[in-house]
Amino acid sequence: MSTAFIDAHLIAADGALRALFAPHRAARPCPRPSLAAGAAVAELSPAEKRHAAALMRVNHVGEICAQALYTSQALAARLGPGEAGEKEKLARHLEAAGQDETDHLAWCKQRLDELGDRPSLLNPLWFAGAFGLGLLAGRMGKGVSLGFVVETERQVEAHLDSHLGLLPEHDHASRAIVEQMKADEIRHANEAKRDGGVDLPPPVKGLMRLAAKVMTTVAHRV
Ligand SMILES: [Fe+2]
Ligand SMILES: [Fe+2]
Repeated sequence: MSTAFIDAHLIAADGALRALFAPHRAARPCPRPSLAAGAAVAELSPAEKRHAAALMRVNHVGEICAQALYTSQALAARLGPGEAGEKEKLARHLEAAGQDETDHLAWCKQRLDELGDRPSLLNPLWFAGAFGLGLLAGRMGKGVSLGFVVETERQVEAHLDSHLGLLPEHDHASRAIVEQMKADEIRHANEAKRDGGVDLPPPVKGLMRLAAKVMTTVAHRV
């Protein structure tokens, strides 16, 4: 058994344990409404809290999946064929975006705590599924791997945009987080495209949308 193979499994296990069980430290402070907007925040009703928490739980699941995808794609990049410098550059690109996703994960968890709710009970399942998908995409080479990032981030952006229409109008704290996440996901997609992400075939995009639909529908409740 090669050292790279053993390393790969250790990295996978480490990534899973960190994403699922370790407290996440954001590198950037949690986006907060301005003082004026903050002062105007009305107390959310119990129903509004539950509704906002369900949406933030879905977003938290998305960020668990982002951790899995970026970790596994970086891993596949390092293990795949090609010139060592190029492989390392791609892996670092993926890891840098992954750091933003750690911020998102920490912010979503913080907001869930504030709303008195919990993350999805199925997080280990979401992580495992996304990790496998990321490995698969990563093994198909740089263009497809980055193309997968572009499509994922664009779908997440559209999904976050829909949440801005669904969150209670006066839940400024959740909205500020979602707004910043959306801006970051747009940047991640643009950077992956700029660095050589290819356009994925429509059936693949459709399958990705279907998988995301299943995940978001289940995570809304469980
Ligand atoms: Fe994110
Ligand atoms: Fe992202």
